[in-house]
Amino acid sequence: MKTKKNIWLGFHNKSRSERIKILKENSFLNDEFSENLLNNVTLPCDIAEKISENNIGTLALPLGIAPNFLINGEKYTVPMVIEEPSVIAACSYAAKMISSSGGFYAEILNRKMTGQVILYNIENIEKAFENVLNYKEIILNTANEAYPSIVKRGGGAEDIRAEIFYDDNTSFLSVYLTVDVKEAMGANIINSMLEGIKSLLEKITGGICLMTILSNYADKSLVTSSCEIDIKFLSNDINVAVNIAKKIELASKFAKIDIYRAATHNKGIFNGIDAVVIAVGNDWRAIEAGGHAYAASSGKYKGLTTWTFDEKNLKLKGMLTLPMPIASVGGSIGLNPSVKAAFNILKNPDAKTLACIIVSVGLAQNLAALKALVTKGIQKGHMKLQAKSLALSVGAIGSEVEILAQKLTEAKHINLENAKKLLKEIRKKLRKIE
Ligand code: MEV
Repeated sequence: MKTKKNIWLGFHNKSRSERIKILKENSFLNDEFSENLLNNVTLPCDIAEKISENNIGTLALPLGIAPNFLINGEKYTVPMVIEEPSVIAACSYAAKMISSSGGFYAEILNRKMTGQVILYNIENIEKAFENVLNYKEIILNTANEAYPSIVKRGGGAEDIRAEIFYDDNTSFLSVYLTVDVKEAMGANIINSMLEGIKSLLEKITGGICLMTILSNYADKSLVTSSCEIDIKFLSNDINVAVNIAKKIELASKFAKIDIYRAATHNKGIFNGIDAVVIAVGNDWRAIEAGGHAYAASSGKYKGLTTWTFDEKNLKLKGMLTLPMPIASVGGSIGLNPSVKAAFNILKNPDAKTLACIIVSVGLAQNLAALKALVTKGIQKGHMKLQAKSLALSVGAIGSEVEILAQKLTEAKHINLENAKKLLKEIRKKLRKIE
């Protein structure tokens, strides 16, 4: 039997056009998007100026891919937009380890969005609270009338709940509306519905509306991704592998008890998540806000992943649960050619599949970071790419970049001064050879 060629072998050493060709030949890109990528066709200025204000141009960031994702039995190559060196390499390295051990199992726990109407100046707040619940059906119908197209698509406002808050001498009534927004992220749908029920709620409660707004704490759009890694993928030496697995478990425990570490631990998770969210043209600030709020949902800010070592079966088990209200339609998704190419690479997933992919990327990114941190540290891996960036920033061109990067990684100090000095020496030597 003929074995299938591993197309990712040596992929990072190929030229950009060769990489695009490989993606096209293996049906990750159609003709239109491979052409667009080859010619670096990005967001046109006439569109940029229509979607935000005072526009003077566009800002480019590197777009790369992390292959090796096996999620719920399906293979994915994930587009990532990020300027930080090592993130994509680390992510695909960890994804390969996880995929070789059976892959990610990802699950949508629910997919609803919440918005709130905040009321104050209410004479009898307990009575107002009761009234809101009594008028639930009327409020829901009014909300749906404010955005009938989502109801036609099978979604719409589904539930109402209320909560009373006291602050010194002010009391507030917050009314929460839960909406099924289908494939959209839902901000416009929810905000329109909230405006639609605002005056009704003022009437029912006798209060004044302070504001109506969607909540980015998307605790009804939770997604969990989990994996079980055969620890032989952590090291060829089983004793070393056991030690690494134990340390990763400890690292995950520590991130749940110390806020200093928790913030960095979660930043690493969002290195991967943001990179995909940007590539698919979604609002990454919303995803970040929801993720960090969820990290503090117990009342204490904690690391978002949990890693446990099953010593009996020599398996390292990982899990990440996050709000992931991602959209596969709407916003600027259809307007940006690079975003459309990213969807093409992902085989045009629906919103739920995309959410599963993104949370799995977060889990892989965290594994890569923790493995590096509890073994050799992250500096070594970072250095080569950082040295390349530094070489470029001091003006190295062509073959000078690789030579200078190599010299910098061997040097005692990787800094601007040294880079400038070494570049001068390299140029002198190259001139002599010519
Ligand atoms: C660096 O961008 C991300 C890490 O600091 C994440 C972590 O510490 O877990 C390496």
